[in-house]
Amino acid sequence: MHFDDLRQYIAKVDELGEAERINGADPHLELGAIYAINAQGPNPMLMLFDEIKGYPKGYRIATNLLGSGVRGRLARNIPLDLEGEELAAFSKKRFREKRPVPPEWLDTGPVFENVLEGSDVDLTRFPAPLWHELDGGPYIGTASAVMTRDPDADWVNVGSYRSQLFDRNHIGLHQAYGHHGQIIRDHWFERGLDCPVAISLGQEPSLIVFSGNVEPWEVPELDIAGYFRGAPVQVVKGKSGLPILAWSELTVEGFIMHPDHEPMRLEGGFGEASGYYSHVGGYAAPVIRVDAVYYRNDPIITAQPPVKGASRDSDAGEGRDGGEVGLMKNLAEAGFHDVRGIGHAGPFTVISVHQMYAGHAKRIADWFMSGVGNRPPRMLVLVDDDIDPHDQREVFWAISTRIDPAESVHIYRNLWDGLGTRNPPEQKEIELEHGLAFSSMLIDALKPFAWKDEFPPTNDVSPGLRQRIIEKWGEYLALEPEPGRRAPARGR
Ligand SMILES: Cc1cc2nc3c(=O)[nH]c(=O)nc-3n(C[C@H](O)[C@H](O)[C@H](O)COP(=O)(O)O)c2cc1C
Repeated sequence: MHFDDLRQYIAKVDELGEAERINGADPHLELGAIYAINAQGPNPMLMLFDEIKGYPKGYRIATNLLGSGVRGRLARNIPLDLEGEELAAFSKKRFREKRPVPPEWLDTGPVFENVLEGSDVDLTRFPAPLWHELDGGPYIGTASAVMTRDPDADWVNVGSYRSQLFDRNHIGLHQAYGHHGQIIRDHWFERGLDCPVAISLGQEPSLIVFSGNVEPWEVPELDIAGYFRGAPVQVVKGKSGLPILAWSELTVEGFIMHPDHEPMRLEGGFGEASGYYSHVGGYAAPVIRVDAVYYRNDPIITAQPPVKGASRDSDAGEGRDGGEVGLMKNLAEAGFHDVRGIGHAGPFTVISVHQMYAGHAKRIADWFMSGVGNRPPRMLVLVDDDIDPHDQREVFWAISTRIDPAESVHIYRNLWDGLGTRNPPEQKEIELEHGLAFSSMLIDALKPFAWKDEFPPTNDVSPGLRQRIIEKWGEYLALEPEPGRRAPARGR
């Protein structure tokens, strides 16, 4: 099932009883705090803010669009009734058959219901909350879809990057180093040119998911969204020739200005996904000059600012960030074999490998540490294939029983990194200018390959005996509920 627009999506979420409406909130910290407390709660609702203080009724902000398993699935077009092995098989097939579904170009669309150009451009008429107490200013874009095109190529990149509201026709864009959007911007800057940009500030959530998705260089994310949502994304042509989402609630078009043409401005601080602020006091960043604004009547802005202790997206059954199934596909395409799975246990990313030769699993870890798709994990753990990489108890058991810290911990230095909290102040200057290098840790919690067969056998009940006992005595045993999509332990 796909949604043409955000309104259809909200109607569906309403039908499922997961939407809440709040009228009259103050955009100066009050709205942000309501959003945060909702997002941190046990059952975060999709929250639609209307009658926002100082703004016209109908100019709304929709938050927490993806914050439940149900919404995560709706946005990714995953049937709500699939569980366990069925869901795993569905996801695997989807990723295996993944192919581009290019956008459909329309002559016009609802996004052009209202058009502001030139001196009429005025972004201050749209609600832009001060989300967190130490933010450097109001943010109009926290769940956007940002289109740019490389000056030498014909593909359109889509990413989601935050936008601070500076004045009537200027906004910021925080494109972290290493993201394709930053590279494209700087390709334009290297030629002495401003970078054309179109930003949707309100759209149905599959376009938030796939803007945040990491695809290889030269792969247009709109084509990938078209595949996963099950229908081509409908677009119209903007002034720059960039695609504008036909059903976008609010889109701005203009240029990321070369710093020689328009002075940089202080962007941030901003409350980050790490649970800390980055750039308190702001840092100098290129600005966007907005030349045109397109919006629907009574537009709905989408917002997902990070908050400590709240996930912006749910697991949706395909692994954290929807990425584990995709990463398994990446591993297979890179030629790796005998990988049981990729999971997360607390702060650790975990890869479970059936070791076939000495160095086999370490090769996989080295490749992973180059930053596959996204930045390298801060802490990566290798485990044998008797360990379920999603099961924290099993992973911690492997770490506590299979490592020799002097031999098993490897530090990788000078890796691609984003906003660090632990970097010393002098490095922070470098981060703002050039991106940051930081270190990561690999914990090799594998049985050493050379003598893995001499490793003491585990005293767990073996799978065959377990099966027989459960069949005979199961009614007396306090068994865990069906653990969803996890593969059964192989009990080596
Ligand atoms: C809601 C949301 C907000 C995000 N905000 C930012 C941001 O402000 N800056 C940034 O560099 N990445 C941000 N990201 C992550 C990037 O959008 C993501 O890594 C994306 O894949 C980058 O795309 P690119 O490599 O094509 O540029 C955000 C992601 C989501 C889903």
